[in-house]
Amino acid sequence: MASNMDCVDFDALEERAREKLPPPSFAFCATGADDEITAVENVTAWRKLRLRPRMLRDIVKVDTSVTLLGDRVATPIMVAPTGRHHLFHPEGERASARGAAAAGALFVMSTSGATLLEDVAKERGKERGAAPQWFQLYMQPDRAATGALLDRCVKAGFKALVLTVDQPVPGWSPRAARSPVIASPNVRSVNMVGQPIAKTAYDPDRKGLAMFPTNFGDLEWLVKRANMPVVVKGVLRGDDAKRCVDCGVKGIMVSNHGGRHIDTTVTTAEVISEIVDAIGKTAEIYVDGGIRRGTDIVKALALGARAVLVGRPPLWGLSIDGAAGVQAVMEHLQDEMVRAMRLCGAASLAALTPDLVAK
Ligand SMILES: Cc1cc2nc3c(=O)[nH]c(=O)nc-3n(C[C@H](O)[C@H](O)[C@H](O)COP(=O)(O)O)c2cc1C
Repeated sequence: MASNMDCVDFDALEERAREKLPPPSFAFCATGADDEITAVENVTAWRKLRLRPRMLRDIVKVDTSVTLLGDRVATPIMVAPTGRHHLFHPEGERASARGAAAAGALFVMSTSGATLLEDVAKERGKERGAAPQWFQLYMQPDRAATGALLDRCVKAGFKALVLTVDQPVPGWSPRAARSPVIASPNVRSVNMVGQPIAKTAYDPDRKGLAMFPTNFGDLEWLVKRANMPVVVKGVLRGDDAKRCVDCGVKGIMVSNHGGRHIDTTVTTAEVISEIVDAIGKTAEIYVDGGIRRGTDIVKALALGARAVLVGRPPLWGLSIDGAAGVQAVMEHLQDEMVRAMRLCGAASLAALTPDLVAK
């Protein structure tokens, strides 16, 4: 899959996605909650950190491989779970999963898609060591149905379960409200209980609904029931991370959901060190939110993340050029990361240590 898509800078890429997409689809992708302060600050927080590159190191050969929950992957850059890919490309999640696989990147599939998880599993490529796929769950109150979904995930070969905990109720987005996605009875959330009509989190019908209330008791149940490692996504505090690990969680995703549900939170660049200090090496730590450059990735890994995730950029690629566009975005980030590592004197991910970032 070759793409001629121009990835030189992601601002231009987003602009091209805006030109191509129906306005409601673009608004759904771009928006942050309320005044979009966190969505914007996520990006600037990484940019504000300053690097302290090392010189005179051997950087000709660079190894970016990493194990993620025991599986070796060529790159520490994952595709974050994002819902509703049919709004961006007719092939939806299948195209995204194929693009991620072609780039050797781990793909996290969202619960809120219109593609069967078994069909996404078919896109797990043989390319570049066949990166695993993980499944992101919004815990629905019906435990029997959730259990059945988990069994399907295991059967389809998903290697970990990512429980998203930062959206018990939908946030509100003026931008999405001004340009609403019109739900169609033909497009359904096929992996959710009852296969409801697919609506975005900002659909007015969902205002005030506690869609996915989840507490630590639910988490304990899930860890026992899942039959695969559980990762919690949406943690912004060291004490929460510690409690999740005490429940048996194997990974923490430091995330504010791209600023899409609660505005004016801390940024992930600001809190990653707090989480690292709180849980040390008792679980793997990943981070997302506003990562747009190789230098952002180097900073995140230096501060203690084992891997990063990107949400909106692969959706821009998907919108412009389908699976090839997703692949191009992921490969572009990988190239930038390798360049930034070399310029920082780091030939492996182990060489990315906190002293590379100015205090
Ligand atoms: C259009 C869109 C849909 C999303 N849907 C989900 C979802 O279904 N589940 C989830 O855990 N996170 C979801 N997220 C959040 C992403 O997983 C991720 O945390 C966020 O996009 C990272 O920030 P970035 O977009 O700045 O890279 C979504 C994000 C976007 C942009």
